[in-house]
Amino acid sequence: MDDMPGMDMGGHAGHDMSAGPQGAAVLPEGEALRDLPRLANEAGTPGLFKAKLTAESATVRFAEGLDTPILGYNGTSPGPLIEATEGDRVEITFANRIPEETSTIHWHGMPVPADQDGNPMDPVATGTERTYSFELPEGSAGSYWYHPHPHGKTAEQVYRGLAGAFVVKPKADPIPAAYGDTVLVFTDLRLAADGTMPDNTMVDLMNGRVGDHVLVNGQKNPRLAAPFGTKRRFRLYNATNARFLRLSFEAPMTVIGTDGGLLEAPIAADEILLSPAERLELIVSFDKPGPATLYTLDYDRGWMGAGRPPDAGLTLLTVNVSETPAESVPPLPDKLRPIAQLSAPAVSRRFVFTETMAMNANGMEMGFLINGAAFDMNRVDIVAKAGEVELWEVINKADMDHPFHVHGTQFQVVENERDGQVSKPAYLAWKDTVNVARGETVRLLLRQDRPGPRMYHCHILEHEQLGMMGIVDVQA
Ligand code: C2O
Ligand code: CU
Ligand code: CU
Repeated sequence: MDDMPGMDMGGHAGHDMSAGPQGAAVLPEGEALRDLPRLANEAGTPGLFKAKLTAESATVRFAEGLDTPILGYNGTSPGPLIEATEGDRVEITFANRIPEETSTIHWHGMPVPADQDGNPMDPVATGTERTYSFELPEGSAGSYWYHPHPHGKTAEQVYRGLAGAFVVKPKADPIPAAYGDTVLVFTDLRLAADGTMPDNTMVDLMNGRVGDHVLVNGQKNPRLAAPFGTKRRFRLYNATNARFLRLSFEAPMTVIGTDGGLLEAPIAADEILLSPAERLELIVSFDKPGPATLYTLDYDRGWMGAGRPPDAGLTLLTVNVSETPAESVPPLPDKLRPIAQLSAPAVSRRFVFTETMAMNANGMEMGFLINGAAFDMNRVDIVAKAGEVELWEVINKADMDHPFHVHGTQFQVVENERDGQVSKPAYLAWKDTVNVARGETVRLLLRQDRPGPRMYHCHILEHEQLGMMGIVDVQA
């Protein structure tokens, strides 16, 4: 293992991030990783996934003796893991029981019709219900997620606990079942001495809220066991509001998939960057006995003002690899699936990201803008044609990174440009969120197949809320 300054070598006793600004709660570490609760399918018919999700107040004991009020889907955070298969029809009834607030469920990254996608224009009032229904087309297998998207309240509802993973399985999976399939949802918790989650501050609004503890499935540095020589499949979800996770594992990692499913072929990686809302599928080879940790490295995402939290040296997960070797470990196939390359765009568009800060009578006013404008729910920013490939050029002229996300489809990054240097991504992949670093331009190809209004925005949720969002109206 290489020398990372400040890295936690053993897993349990490293840097203690638990002392937050209030010098508060200590979270237990090293407990066995709990399975995420699963959303049970109530349909008795094959090909249908039917269930109910309620957004409600609940309490969680993150730290000894402290009850923390949260918002949870069916009372848990992260919400229940939803697992369906491509070809399925999904009918999920959403009950909003959040005190005094509207909400929605947005199916992040999924190919659902615009009117089923939980847009801010389709609020579900507190005390009411609505059913979302959509089909999962062939070829849509991937690692998606769900979270609220109400106007002006998304950031808070998410950091208070509303987010969950939605895995769509392929009909035939090329990855050996013996590797398992473990979903790891990263969230970011800030806990005050009294066990509550403090409201966002001005610094949070500027940078996006970064907490004091990165949790995995709601636990701090939980533990897993694996036999020596085995391989495991992990789906990593960055469900934090604003934390960039540059990660490495003390065991060889191979990337096999991104937001929208498997790559064409596996690709080895020493480290990965998971910006807010991104997902990756990994195979980890536990090739020597002893503890192997998943840990963070430093990442300079551009920080405004004082109090940049340290990024490096957090241990997120510890896998205890036994001395006893695994029995027989099937090999990872070297071809996973073909990906049809998008090409020949009919239109090209530019999206320029800027930040503005102004002092006036009301104090500091911040704007996070796309093409000079802040989001307006009643304005259509661009009009596109269903089925047509477009080239989108996303230009970050701001002082911090902004992860760019588009609803309703998956795109392919074709090029990055920085200081006049153009580079191509290492592999072809389906993605719905891509980091656009400070001073960087990202070019991507996308096609919207279903008509209706779709959002595109920065997935630092505080920025989305402060205006860094637009609407593309897709016409049939
Ligand atoms: Cu995660 Cu507008 O979405
Ligand atoms: Cu989305
Ligand atoms: Cu942003």
